[in-house]
Amino acid sequence: MAKPHTTFVCQACGAVAQRWQGRCDACGAWNAMAEEAAAAGIGAQARPRRKGRVFGLTDLGAAGQQAPPRLVTGIAELDRVIGGGFVAGSVLLLGGEPGIGKSTLLVQACASLAARGARVVYISGEEAIDQVRLRALRLGLGEVKVELAAESSVEDIVATLGHGRTPALVVIDSIQTMWTETIESAPGTVGQVRAAAQALIRFAKAAGSAVILVGHVTKDGQIAGPRVVEHMVDAVISFEGEGGRDLRLLRAMKNRFGPTDEIGVFEMTGRGLAEVANPSALFLSGRERAAPGAAVFAGMEGSRPLLVEIQALVAQSALGTPRRAVVGWDTARLATVLAVLDAHAGLRLGQYDIYLNVAGGLRVAEPAADLAAAAALVSSLTGRSLPADQVYFGEIALSGAIRPVAHERARLKEAAKLGFARALVPRAVAGKDEAGAPDLISKGCAHISELVAEIAGARPRQRGGEGTA
Ligand code: TYD
Ligand code: MG
Repeated sequence: MAKPHTTFVCQACGAVAQRWQGRCDACGAWNAMAEEAAAAGIGAQARPRRKGRVFGLTDLGAAGQQAPPRLVTGIAELDRVIGGGFVAGSVLLLGGEPGIGKSTLLVQACASLAARGARVVYISGEEAIDQVRLRALRLGLGEVKVELAAESSVEDIVATLGHGRTPALVVIDSIQTMWTETIESAPGTVGQVRAAAQALIRFAKAAGSAVILVGHVTKDGQIAGPRVVEHMVDAVISFEGEGGRDLRLLRAMKNRFGPTDEIGVFEMTGRGLAEVANPSALFLSGRERAAPGAAVFAGMEGSRPLLVEIQALVAQSALGTPRRAVVGWDTARLATVLAVLDAHAGLRLGQYDIYLNVAGGLRVAEPAADLAAAAALVSSLTGRSLPADQVYFGEIALSGAIRPVAHERARLKEAAKLGFARALVPRAVAGKDEAGAPDLISKGCAHISELVAEIAGARPRQRGGEGTA
């Protein structure tokens, strides 16, 4: 059978079909199939045009002796997330919803690097040169030596970048607006985005420039269309905002040259993005003191301690199947904590709707948050508020035991720094020498039943007064 000349590629997930479909078989997206030239795919060409070239092999040990050179921007929140600066010859994808501040962040980073003497090129495929200039002016960066162009042809861009001193950093804003002549489909389609990214990655590796690709993501958090780019690049960084607030979180989703558990915290101001050096204070601001159902978790984000409030609401359910709604935490983890509270502390939560919320739009993935979540749940159930000057951390085992977690010193120190006086921690931690946090009294807790007794007193009282304990 003769090969078809075109295929249909889902613009949401990149799945390939031979015939047009209204709904993608792979991801279920409607109206996402677009016709693309078949030659775009890997293996589409049956016979290679030339014979294979023999290349030299090198020792693994010898190649990796030196750490890759880094371009330090001086914006500490950014540098930490990317692992200590941009790596020469690497490609980074910065994803985020439109309007979140990607261009703003990159203009600031470019200006900072240019001020340190690096050659920096900013290619805007979305905005006219005047718009980019206007933004820079607003950011107080009118005088910086960032080279600027409004272009979208990848061939032209690569040719231009090949002239003169090799740029240390190239920003492509955004990859969705780029197009290459090697592909016939329209800009923004999966085929174009993939081919354009490939060409720019080739340029980065050959020239040794660090290249940043900006990618817009859809509401459900997927990098629209160019999800296919995610596995081609060296690092994927996402820039997220919290609805209604000016808080912005920079987060590494993948990084071949750095950690993936660090976050960078920024605030969008009238003069661009400002670094938030002490995010705990920010996450705890606006906290209602001594409200039932709120517990402060002394957490860690990568290498940095971060205090955040965990809020729970336990309410009588009118439904046959009670609701469980979780924001910023893992639903399965909530189910586990509820099961342990039931089995080992006798709290029957089956007839309650349960809402759990990590304040400030943060996502907590650490098991160390178990104890704080359990404290918030018990506090809401009993209607007794927790001490406002107390923090919590500890992992809850299925047996009901409270297990120690890593970095207890850093957590306690951060809590003490923010004016907390007490901490409820795993027993094993409380026994240790607390030289790191002299102003803090830490109380040990060995079992979940101790936590419940501590909050509810000797006789647990159900909310509303009439329920059975
Ligand atoms: P932008 O960087 O253009 O977002 P993206 O590139 O992710 O689409 O940011 C646009 C938003 O940021 C816009 O709503 C205005 C706001 N903003 C400020 O609040 N302060 C500033 O100094 C700047 C430059 C933008
Ligand atoms: Mg932009």
